[in-house]
Amino acid sequence: MKVSNDKGIIKDGSDILIVLDERKRWLTRAISGKQFHCHKGFFDFDHIIGKPYGTKVITNKSVYLTIYDPIPSDFLKQIPHSSQIIYTKDAGSILMNGGIKPGSRVIEAGTGSGALTSILATYVGQTGQVYTYENRETAFETAKENLSRIGVETNVSMKLKDVSTGFEEKNVDAIVLDLGDPCIVIPHAYESLKYGGILTVFLPTFNQIERVITTFSEFDFDDIKAHELIKRDFQLKPHAIRPNTRMIGHTGYLIFARKVFKEVDQ
Ligand SMILES: C[S@@+](CC[C@H](N)C(=O)[O-])C[C@H]1O[C@@H](n2cnc3c(N)ncnc32)[C@H](O)[C@@H]1O
Repeated sequence: MKVSNDKGIIKDGSDILIVLDERKRWLTRAISGKQFHCHKGFFDFDHIIGKPYGTKVITNKSVYLTIYDPIPSDFLKQIPHSSQIIYTKDAGSILMNGGIKPGSRVIEAGTGSGALTSILATYVGQTGQVYTYENRETAFETAKENLSRIGVETNVSMKLKDVSTGFEEKNVDAIVLDLGDPCIVIPHAYESLKYGGILTVFLPTFNQIERVITTFSEFDFDDIKAHELIKRDFQLKPHAIRPNTRMIGHTGYLIFARKVFKEVDQ
């Protein structure tokens, strides 16, 4: 993230998350000499600069707001979206089951709003690299701004390119596909992955699973796994702790496959 959380102290220019309650929260920057305004009044950023994150501030309408150090999921909820973004539950699985770690070289398509890109870039760190492809110019520009806002652009190579013609990189550690027709990209993904590397495909519909598995069988992919993750958020009212009545019932399915040698080494 852009301005480092130096020992947990809010600085001039720090990213901050201002929280009224579970629903009303704002992501902004603490700028000396300026004010934050909302329907519950305003306060001067100078009142919080130099104080630790977790500080409470009172507005001119006597309402308390809490100032937090934003985490990646706070940025993802607030950035402009040009497409459906990946949910954090699915992103966690992509990292853990997709063989992605600090230092990994990862190809991603499509970039969309850059939500998954920012998670991949944060996780591979400065010793790794994310190569992300997008064929829609508007989405590409939105993602570029989002990645800059989140502060992860240094280890991301953005490409405005249709991946149905292939990827420029070879021998990468992992590839993640989240686009309309992954089957036409799977041959190129096979070509660009290192042996043992993992291809992850995110699919919003059930019907696509069979097509992807059939396409995998035309190449030397093995150790194929698929799953769906269901998340239930809880209401935490004292004496009434239970799952929320409403939930996001569906996001998508995840398929993972490793590139292998077909010949047995004897
Ligand atoms: C669902 S969005 C990806 C969302 C992204 N995972 C995120 O978290 O923000 C799919 C994106 O893939 C792009 N796309 C579809 N086909 C493509 C292709 N052949 N080459 C490059 N990008 C493509 C679309 O324009 C769209 O922006």
